[in-house]
Amino acid sequence: MDRKPASADSIAALRAEAADCRACPLWKDATQTVFGEGPARARLMLVGEQPGDKEDLAGKPFVGPAGNMLDRALEEAGIDRDKIYITNAVKHFKFVARGKIRLHQKPSTPEIKACRQWYERELAAIEPDLVVAMGATAAQCVFGRITPINKNRGKPVTLDHTMQALVTVHPSYLLRLPDEETKAREYRRFVGDLKLAAKLLGSSTDAA
Ligand code: URA
Repeated sequence: MDRKPASADSIAALRAEAADCRACPLWKDATQTVFGEGPARARLMLVGEQPGDKEDLAGKPFVGPAGNMLDRALEEAGIDRDKIYITNAVKHFKFVARGKIRLHQKPSTPEIKACRQWYERELAAIEPDLVVAMGATAAQCVFGRITPINKNRGKPVTLDHTMQALVTVHPSYLLRLPDEETKAREYRRFVGDLKLAAKLLGSSTDAA
């Protein structure tokens, strides 16, 4: 499909502006803003929760354990990561320090709201055909309200006349599951959700 050129803000300009974001206090302890990444004309946008420890240090989304899980699932779903735009609802790492370890903390609603401007501007610049919200924080950002995952999973929602959205679980949820059987089953469901995303875009091999 012929895509409209990325509008108003370019992703590079947004990233530069977001580097100095002080809209909530999370910037104080984080290493850097971790902005979204991917082609400006991507047809698929994935939204996660917030950068983790590895992402905070690298300055890139989904490069740690959850990113490895996501990469595996994308590949199985026939989606090329290089062709999609990946971002987070909250763009600074929220954590508590326990000795040398930085333990992830869930972002609060005020933090999600303060950061939403960046998601909105990424969305306006990229105009994807489909947004996939991974987990509750991402769903709250994408829909602007608390949106239960299990109740809404697998059901495409129209965001506006050109965009659709889907919700699924966050890949970290799969990493936290206690037994192998549940892990394998939930992983299959996650891949199934990504396959649905590829199907909605019309081709599983060209999701961008
Ligand atoms: N979890 C997220 O939600 N985003 C990342 O970038 C990494 C882990």
